[in-house]
Parts: sequence; C-alpha cells; structure tokens
Amino acid sequence: MNHFIDLWPVPSGELRSILNNAKSRKAARKGAPRGTVDKDAPLAGRTLAMIFEKNSTRTRVSFDMAIRQLGGSSLVLNSGDTQLGRGESVEDTAKVLSRYVDAVMIRANRHDDVEMFAKAATVPVINGLTEKSHPCQIMADLQTLEEAGLELKGSRIAWIGDGNNVAASFIHAAPKFGFSLSVATPPGYDPQRQDVERARAEQGRIDLFRDPVKAVAGADVVVADTFVSMGDKDAARRLRDLAPFKVSEDLMRHANGKAMFLHCLPAHRGEEVDADVIDGPRSLVFDEAENRLHAQKAILEWCLRS
Ligand code: CP
Ligand code: NVA
Repeated sequence: MNHFIDLWPVPSGELRSILNNAKSRKAARKGAPRGTVDKDAPLAGRTLAMIFEKNSTRTRVSFDMAIRQLGGSSLVLNSGDTQLGRGESVEDTAKVLSRYVDAVMIRANRHDDVEMFAKAATVPVINGLTEKSHPCQIMADLQTLEEAGLELKGSRIAWIGDGNNVAASFIHAAPKFGFSLSVATPPGYDPQRQDVERARAEQGRIDLFRDPVKAVAGADVVVADTFVSMGDKDAARRLRDLAPFKVSEDLMRHANGKAMFLHCLPAHRGEEVDADVIDGPRSLVFDEAENRLHAQKAILEWCLRS
C-alpha cells in the first residue's frame, strides 16, 4: 500500500514521477474552471477523508479541490467533533474509516499517531502535517522551483529560522532530489539530528549554520517559516531567540543574485520575513500555495493507483 507519510520510503524515481505528473496535470487543465474534473477522471468514485487536529487553510482546501478535480469526493472531520476527540483509539478509528473511504489524510498533533493510523488502516494514509514533517508541502515547493526554472540537482537551498517540521521535509528531500541544503538556526532550534544523519547517509549534503548570512551565501533559494508553529507553547521565547533569523532584503542580498524566496504560509510579516521580501519580485509564495493543489493531485493518484 502506498502511504505518503514521509519522503524517506518513497524511491526518488517515484517522487520524480509524482512531480512530473503534478506539472502535466496542471498544464493539461490550464484555464478550465476550477470545479471541473480532469478529462481522464482517474479517481472517479473514490472518497478521501481528511482529519484535522490542527488548523488549516491551504491543506484543507487544496486536498478538497484535488480529489474533486480527479473525479472523487472528500469529507472533512475535525477531530474534536469525532469520537477520536473523546479518546477512541487511533487504531479503531483507522479500521472503521477504512471500511467507508478510499484514503485518509491526517493533520495530527503527534506524528506517531499518523504512523499508528497507517499501520491499522487498510487504505492509503497521507500526512497533512505533523510536528515532525510536512511532506506534501515540500512536493509543492519543489514543483514551484522547477516551474520557475531551477534545476534541483546541484542547486543550493537555504533554510533560515526554526529547524521545524517543514525544515525536516526539506532535509528528507535533499538526497532524493540532489540539492544541497544549508540550515541556519539558533542553538536549541536545530533540526532533528536523526534526519540530518539519515540525509547525509543517503549522500545528501546538509550544512548546519548559526549565522544566516553564511547559510544564504550563494543560495539559489531562501526559505522561511513561522517562528511559532502550531502546538509550540513558548511563543515569547521563540520570537526573541529567532528574531536575528528574519529574512530581510539585506539578508537576500547575500544569496545568489536571482535567488527565489519560499514560505509555506501562513506568514507573519515583520517576524520571520519582511514584507518587501515576501511581497517582492523574488517571492514565489502564491505559486507555491497554488501548487499544493497540483502536487497533491499527483500524490493522491500515486496513493490510489490500483
Ligand atoms: N502551508 C500549509 O500547510 O498551510 P495550512 O496550514 O493553511 O494548511
Ligand atoms: N511550521 C508550521 C507550518 C504551518 C503550515 C506549523 O507547523 O505550524
């Protein structure tokens, strides 16, 4: 069964074909009304359930539109409204939902719950963000960079700020797509050591920095994310510790002259990035948000191909 919980177990050739499929489906329906179904309707009759334990705008709407454009349908479960929210086990929930729907996307507080859900489920399970990773986001990000003309292999991407869930998925992607990743974080905000070690063991180039200027030197892409992720309790401390890691025009000047800027959104202008960067000509953030739809169509198709 093809779960999409992290990039690690998916061979690079399959990740490449997911990206290619995302791009060709996007091109094939260019200009069509958003509610129309792709001509081949590859997921006709299939239903996706989406479980949310945390807030979401992009993931919720892009997955909903994705399954519709593939010919299927979706239903949204806010976990607090379900028996999960009253303590029904993850395993029982997985077994029950597997009798009703064809795939489940989960945005969860605990990555381990997504793993447990997938073990008990008999349908594909997709990680729509956990505290540990956000693999669907990175597929959209990489699609965006390729569409903007970047050849991923051999390129240099700089992650500035918190070594969080989104940073983790960039680390996972580095050896799969052959880009090098420079990560600049203050002490205490390092990415998970096991992610860095595994990426390096798989011939990925991951360089860790304390100085954002050094991390962005010569970078083709600069990436920022919120300093306070969903579930983080220590907002005041984070904002204080991470303040020197804000992406400003001044910092962008140290990157490659044509460097692009990414941010998965939602953004906090003036905290992790200045408005003139995120709203400026190097920013691809709205293409990136749009590509969540296209990348996830390809992920859904990969999960559900029979
Ligand atoms: N980038 C992202 O996952 O956005 P949402 O939290 O709005 O889904
Ligand atoms: N790191 C952020 C990403 C939001 C899409 C969070 O987990 O809240």
